[in-house]
Amino acid sequence: MLKIINIVGARPNFMKIAPIIEAIGKYNNEAASKRHIKSLLVHTGQHYDEKMSKLFFDDLEIPKPDIDLGIGSGTHAEQTAEIMRRFEPVLLKERPDYILVVGDVNSTIACALTASKLGVKIIHVEAGLRSFDRSMPEEINRVLTDAISDILFTTEKGAEDNLLREGISKEKIFFVGNVMIDTLLKQKKKAQGSDVLSRLGLTGSKTEARRPKPLPYAVLTLHRPSNVDKKENLSGIMEAVSVISEKTPVIFPIHPRTRKKIDEFRLQHFFNASAGKPAKKAGIYLTEPLGYLDFLNLMSNTRLILTDSGGLQEEATVLGVPCITLRENTERPVTVTEGTNKVVGTNKLKIIEEGLNALRDGARKRRIPELWDGKAAERIVEIILRNHNPK
Ligand code: UD1
Repeated sequence: MLKIINIVGARPNFMKIAPIIEAIGKYNNEAASKRHIKSLLVHTGQHYDEKMSKLFFDDLEIPKPDIDLGIGSGTHAEQTAEIMRRFEPVLLKERPDYILVVGDVNSTIACALTASKLGVKIIHVEAGLRSFDRSMPEEINRVLTDAISDILFTTEKGAEDNLLREGISKEKIFFVGNVMIDTLLKQKKKAQGSDVLSRLGLTGSKTEARRPKPLPYAVLTLHRPSNVDKKENLSGIMEAVSVISEKTPVIFPIHPRTRKKIDEFRLQHFFNASAGKPAKKAGIYLTEPLGYLDFLNLMSNTRLILTDSGGLQEEATVLGVPCITLRENTERPVTVTEGTNKVVGTNKLKIIEEGLNALRDGARKRRIPELWDGKAAERIVEIILRNHNPK
């Protein structure tokens, strides 16, 4: 038997772990006579709101975590330390062969570090991405997690060069594709059944056609500390988005951190007073954070995504939707070289210019990056098995 503890903590982890758990289940079903993989799911509780966590378990049919560390919010040090303190006894009791961490959130590094000190092997899914911006907490998490991982799975070719440059040996690195895209491809059809567009007033009138075309709109997401924690940065971005929203309504599912900052800085005037009502008019419309299927539907039908998220750049690329990244850099360069992404920074005039250009020009030509084919998780399970028992 091979025993793995899979770790999740924050929202972007859930769609990455779902296909891995599914691929392990599939292997166990098909391989009754072969070696069984026992897997446990640990949720650190870094994200705990119903809308930041439970909705995703429901939408993606992720089994209930076997262990919930329930750590909640805190400073980076508090969060990281508390996860380590609570995860250590789990490792001592369960003694897995591997822990598997995904992405770059505080839960990723905290669990990896705990495992490394106990001599438990670490698998990192989405290794080798680099923004080369050490002021981003995620960049520190990525570099450190990769440095102590035993098996590193990458999503794009360039990630391997980054890892080799940091002295990680080639035998540990495997280019397998993108588990987040496994989930997107699997859920795309189901997401069409979401009623999010009608809830937001974005469907055309029912009398016009049997399946009315969605009204034009753009989508905004914003949560990076560098964009939302300082009043002048957040209000500059909101001013730019306001100008874009005069051309097409902007739907803004708001992260809890950003909502707190909007209230603290008294920036509510940027939002359409009729929030919650049909978004037929110009303006920025706030909504609660959306579940996976609702958000995938919203992304699939939008004319433009404005975001500071990492994952959305990849999802927009696969959906063929123009994406404007409100950051100075990206750790996912393939979304720019092959996909629909443009990194425009946070200068107000630049955001307006690029936003209006994208609305005018529509979908960009793009290629789907190599191995983003819905089978990354299956490759991961195969490679873990092969590595655990080398011939
Ligand atoms: C974290 C990740 C980031 C990821 C993002 C996705 C790190 C360093 N950052 O950032 O990479 O892109 O998740 O959402 O791990 N809060 C709630 N309810 C929740 C969760 C958070 O109200 O369920 C609020 C709390 O005030 C908390 C703040 O949001 O202090 C920030 O949460 P935190 O987990 O520290 O970081 P995120 O900004 O969500």
